[in-house]
Amino acid sequence: MTAITLTAGAPGAQILGFGSYRPRRRVTNDELAQTMDTNDEWIQARVGIAERRWAEPDETLLEMSVAAGGKALAASGLDAAELDLVLLASASLPRPIPGLAPEVAHRLGAKRPGAFDVNAGCAGWCYALGSAADSIRSGSARNVLVIGGERLTDYTDLTDRSTAVIFADGAGAAVLGRSQTPGVGPVVWGSDGDQSEAIAIPEGEKAMSMAGQAVYRWATTRLTDTLGEAMRRAGVGPDDIDVFAPHQANLRIIELMARRLGLPERTVIARDIVRSGNTSSASVPLALSALLESGEAKSGDVALLLGYGAGLTFAGQVVVLP
Ligand SMILES: CC(C)(COP(=O)(O)OP(=O)(O)OC[C@H]1O[C@@H](n2cnc3c(N)ncnc32)[C@H](O)[C@@H]1OP(=O)(O)O)[C@@H](O)C(=O)NCCC(=O)NCCS
Repeated sequence: MTAITLTAGAPGAQILGFGSYRPRRRVTNDELAQTMDTNDEWIQARVGIAERRWAEPDETLLEMSVAAGGKALAASGLDAAELDLVLLASASLPRPIPGLAPEVAHRLGAKRPGAFDVNAGCAGWCYALGSAADSIRSGSARNVLVIGGERLTDYTDLTDRSTAVIFADGAGAAVLGRSQTPGVGPVVWGSDGDQSEAIAIPEGEKAMSMAGQAVYRWATTRLTDTLGEAMRRAGVGPDDIDVFAPHQANLRIIELMARRLGLPERTVIARDIVRSGNTSSASVPLALSALLESGEAKSGDVALLLGYGAGLTFAGQVVVLP
């Protein structure tokens, strides 16, 4: 039998740089209260959002993804021609066919890279990050661009207070390359497809609906183990975590998870939801970009990540920040 030859991989993958794009338009809670029966106090107390960004017509998913991807490339020091894989995580693609990742890659000037979209709900970017790191380790790719981009307002009823106050738009990205010392730990991913109705666009409808309380219960009871497993597989413990950046769905969930994990006082907790709302696949790279830009997180920090959402899906890993 003919033996198949495998490509030589790298000892590890590392994140080389982050980039982000936040839509221009800020929407405050008070602005929303003018058009629907809600108020700043309820939103801040229950979800933790003070304001969010909503994309304007020219801020398409393509444009936001290209902008975030371009900044991540610049931060990485690589040229677009050096990318051999581009992944776009999104749950709000403007069309089913064709996928958007090839066009994003082309706009960035990449030379015929592998390119595909990843739809794993709000866990999409962490799924894509795990796939990117594994591709580098196996030798399928050397340098990978991983974008999380969303225009959730296209799929939200902006008059429905149960979702309109929560979902928002934006894009975040990271470039990964080969490394001698692993900078991305093993991904712990999974799904609970029996709850696929919990966050969905019901058949025949145009806007998303969410069984908020059921998802809250699931996130706060089922996902602490995932975070523990991500640390265990990466060989680190709570005391090693410099930055905790879970999906930005609800500030109460973020703080509850941080308490349950027993993270030390010094750990920086991503609270980007306060000014960005819930941006699904974009939320983790947006939060990490903001922490690096503000100096709250620094190069070499060990970060614990977790994405979770529609599917229901979840994915977590430990990474070293660039
Ligand atoms: C969505 C979420 C913020 C809602 O918060 P909650 O505390 O569960 O609120 P409930 O849905 O129980 O609603 C409580 C009350 O507030 C009301 N309410 C709902 N939205 C409101 C709003 N925007 N403003 C004011 N009141 C509101 C409800 O009608 C309800 O009123 P009632 O008690 O008179 O029936 C919360 O459930 C959540 O964050 N869930 C998890 C979301 C998540 O993690 N998603 C995963 C990835 S996308």
